[in-house]
Amino acid sequence: MSDDFFPVPDSWATGALMDRAGREADYARSIDDADAYWLERAKRLDWITPPTRANESSFAEADFGVQWFSDGVLNVSANCIDRHLADRADETAIIWEPDSPDADPRRYTYAQVHAEVCRLANVLKAAGAKKGDRITIYLPMIPEAAFALLACARIGAIHSVVFGGFSPEALAGRIIDCDSTIVITADEGRRGGKAVPLKVNVDAALKECPSVRKVVVVKATGGAVTMKDGRDLWLHEEAATVSADCPPEPMKAEDPLFILYTSGSTGKPKGVLHTTGGYLLWASLTHELCFDYRPGDIYWCAADIGWVTGHSYIVYGPLANGATTLIYEGVPNYPTPARIWQVVDRHQVQTIFTAPTALRALMKEGDDFVHSTSRKSLRLLGTVGEPINPEAWRWYHHVVGEDRCPIIDTWWQTETGGAMIAPTPGATDLKPGSATFPMPGVVPQIVDGEGKVLEGATEGNLVIAGSWPGQMRTVWGDHERFFQTYFSTFPGKYTTGDGARRDADGYYWITGRVDDVINVSGHRMGTAEVESALVLHESVAEAAVVGFPHDIKGQGIYAYVTLNSGEEANDALRKDLVKWVRTEIGPIATPDAIQFAPGLPKTRSGKIMRRILRKIAEGEVSAQALGDTSTLADPSVVDNLVANRQG
Ligand code: WT7
Repeated sequence: MSDDFFPVPDSWATGALMDRAGREADYARSIDDADAYWLERAKRLDWITPPTRANESSFAEADFGVQWFSDGVLNVSANCIDRHLADRADETAIIWEPDSPDADPRRYTYAQVHAEVCRLANVLKAAGAKKGDRITIYLPMIPEAAFALLACARIGAIHSVVFGGFSPEALAGRIIDCDSTIVITADEGRRGGKAVPLKVNVDAALKECPSVRKVVVVKATGGAVTMKDGRDLWLHEEAATVSADCPPEPMKAEDPLFILYTSGSTGKPKGVLHTTGGYLLWASLTHELCFDYRPGDIYWCAADIGWVTGHSYIVYGPLANGATTLIYEGVPNYPTPARIWQVVDRHQVQTIFTAPTALRALMKEGDDFVHSTSRKSLRLLGTVGEPINPEAWRWYHHVVGEDRCPIIDTWWQTETGGAMIAPTPGATDLKPGSATFPMPGVVPQIVDGEGKVLEGATEGNLVIAGSWPGQMRTVWGDHERFFQTYFSTFPGKYTTGDGARRDADGYYWITGRVDDVINVSGHRMGTAEVESALVLHESVAEAAVVGFPHDIKGQGIYAYVTLNSGEEANDALRKDLVKWVRTEIGPIATPDAIQFAPGLPKTRSGKIMRRILRKIAEGEVSAQALGDTSTLADPSVVDNLVANRQG
């Protein structure tokens, strides 16, 4: 087992924010004296009115609700910017690394970020934005993306960021769901040398969105766009007409901060709502603990601001802590697989935080690209988004980090606001593939199918026994769905949807989703969403989508499609269906395999037996693997499916 165990390295054994005993004592206090602990921790933020109450949440149906620091008042943007101005006005808040290595990086000091955010906030106000309004942000990875989040927070508007890779159709659905009145976008994005037509997509989406009154457009690439009179505004023109000062709006701790849409196992994407005080505390505390953050550290989270990782660990967590946060416009392997490490060298990055799928893609290209760079500045290597396979973990640790940098594998979800189970570098001996131990105040439990709590070394469903400050507060517009989705399966507990194992040393190992959510390149996708897109196609009668193991993506998308009678199953239609899903949802939902199926395996009550579809997609087609098929309405469909398996 010694090979599988990586003790805290000497370089981290002393001087870390928490050593092992310190972490254990801190955790114990967070549980035993929770309210006092959290009121103390809350002091890391600047409050206009400090809270006197901490956790007032209940997961029970009778008095259900999640609430923290309810009498506190603060502003998130003031916490991320203004409070650093006294000491750190001229220090770099944001480093921007453009897509092309030949273009010049940009740097913004805290004072400059203050001015940019205030101007954008004033532009939004002039465009009619008020506290509580929803503003949709559809931007590439440019500094304005961070300014946009902070500008909304400054005036108390609720932002809803939509990832730039989503289609006009998906964008429209998210605008309509929360009735956004303003959209912030750019002429184009740039990724891996290619232009992304953001403004064109917005124009297409807005045909279906009557609630939108104004579109604020950032000139990012200078690409040609059409501007609609009376609706569309160039940010640089408007910003020149407003003041560079905008007083932050005092917000109650439980006032909404943002909505972020994420996929579930059923229905359309849910608008996960996070609020002001608890979320910011969670993002900033977990950023500090997981990455042992110290003032002056140069930190790079290589996620997209369109996902929660970007919200919590590019923008809110690091800026609340006064860090220098790097925003990278492009992709890790452009123009070559050495790029990510070249950026590390160029900006002397100390902590990098990325996803297993990126590591697997880079690993495949060989070690020479890594060895062509120095990486001496690196001290910590973070990972997030899906279980990291031990092979990728070892490569990250040995080849990238030259055995000196702990791997911080953070398990969490859009719903949790920030890291829930993760190592801290000075305290945690690591095991490749384990996210290790809970963060302060987090009580993970493993339960069986009936909800019985399993003790000791065991495996089952991962639930969280009580609330934590960063927990989501509701599903936008559907509080009942919030309760039903997360608190009804195992009453009194938050259901994560993940499976987990706990080993004899108490380490947690996330085993993957136990519901119909799949994880494609660290992007969460509901199989139901892909199915809905497929059945909208005129040739399709029925569709069933499952995940299957994929070397680089972690999971791939495998679709079984039953055509309307008279339709011909051929490669042209297969291509057309792939294209169709890309336009309905976006490239991240591209099916990897489409199998035409005259019939799907259904029970006599009409329920599709996904277990069988999963096995066939995985290539496990022995009678033993497929299990009992006698309860199917027509067991012979299985033979047809096996015979026509794709890939
Ligand atoms: C799902 C949440 C966490 C922010 C990015 C994804 C999976 C996430 C890990 C990890 C194993 C992980 C889980 C989770 N996941 N991080 N370190 N180890 N699995 O957020 O889109 O809300 O997806 O991602 O299955 O439920 P998300």
